[in-house]
Amino acid sequence: MKLTVEDVSTRFIKHFGGEPGQLYAAPGRINLIGEHTDYNNGFVFPGAVEQGMIAEVRPNGTRKVDAYSIDLKDRVQFSLDDEQGPKTTWARYIFGVCREMMALGVPVEGFNTAFAGDVPLGAGMSSSAALESVYAFALNDLFGENKIERMDLAKVGQRTEHKYIGVNCGIMDQAISCLGKAGHLMRMDCRSGEIAYFPWNPEGYKLVLVNSCVKHELVGSPYNERRLSCEHVAEVIKNRHPEVESLRDANYEMLEEVKDGVSAEDYKRAHYVIGEVDRVLQVCDALEAGDYEAVGQKMYETHHGLSEEYEVSCEELDFLNNIAKEEGVTGSRIMGGGFGGCTINLIADELVDNFKKVVTEKFKAKYGKDPIIIDVVIGPGARKLS
Ligand code: GLA
Repeated sequence: MKLTVEDVSTRFIKHFGGEPGQLYAAPGRINLIGEHTDYNNGFVFPGAVEQGMIAEVRPNGTRKVDAYSIDLKDRVQFSLDDEQGPKTTWARYIFGVCREMMALGVPVEGFNTAFAGDVPLGAGMSSSAALESVYAFALNDLFGENKIERMDLAKVGQRTEHKYIGVNCGIMDQAISCLGKAGHLMRMDCRSGEIAYFPWNPEGYKLVLVNSCVKHELVGSPYNERRLSCEHVAEVIKNRHPEVESLRDANYEMLEEVKDGVSAEDYKRAHYVIGEVDRVLQVCDALEAGDYEAVGQKMYETHHGLSEEYEVSCEELDFLNNIAKEEGVTGSRIMGGGFGGCTINLIADELVDNFKKVVTEKFKAKYGKDPIIIDVVIGPGARKLS
């Protein structure tokens, strides 16, 4: 589906009548490398995509929010002053953002809103971060004189996940949705918040997502458990090395020292993360040197780690990764939190068409359905639409 602004506007007027509201957009994301590193204070390397959420918003002079999800054909009302908020999950994202913006001192007033998205749900492309970011950006613009910095808008989205949805996510998805730049990947140090933009115009290569269509859902998944494993190992290492605040600060030697003091499972999780934090920096260097083979090699290493050590893969994603290897794809790995969703593939131009054909045929032969193939275009972050 290609989402158009007209679709959103037409629905808005159909449901709420009167004058049009103001339109905003915020994107989903890809991540070249740096998975499950954000909540370990490490580095990530995402880029915003063209696909995202579009929301139309019009203040209504009350304390109530009247929200319509165009995709789900569902309408929910809630009061800004209610402590509990709505039960419907999609509406809780909007409620959480309102409440967190209010907590920052933004005088949010009631509004009518309709929204729709073209980030495939459950594909690991952060449709929920796009939803949070589009509203954080809109409320800042409509009620907050744009006083809140984009990184703080991202944190509003992250707190919404933690406090209203129950996913203890890191900051990557919301940060790139708020701070993405067209044509650029963004390396972020998740401890200091420092950001560096890297132009993304790989000569002779393309990025292609293959969606296994296994629905990735972080709510109720072992995502929070993975985070706890990491924090636990970091704590055990800290007993011997007080300078270690998170796995970002640890190395393999430190991990070996505590091997007998942690479970075999936690050891594997930490082993993956320690390697992954380094891989992000190595990929940035390789990119600057134009060494795409090295970039791709690291992507395969990440897949291996996510599958064998972090154990967030599934049969379908491993199958897609193997086909990529067989077909000479330069780099391929699970993207995002895992447990389903997409692989991200770095492919030499001349192999792209054949890979798409072969991966579709083989996946269909095995699982009886087509995977969805998405060409990646790196787009801008959250914005007001004129
Ligand atoms: C999800 C989370 C992010 C990050 C990734 C894994 O997308 O929202 O914070 O942890 O998983 O890299």
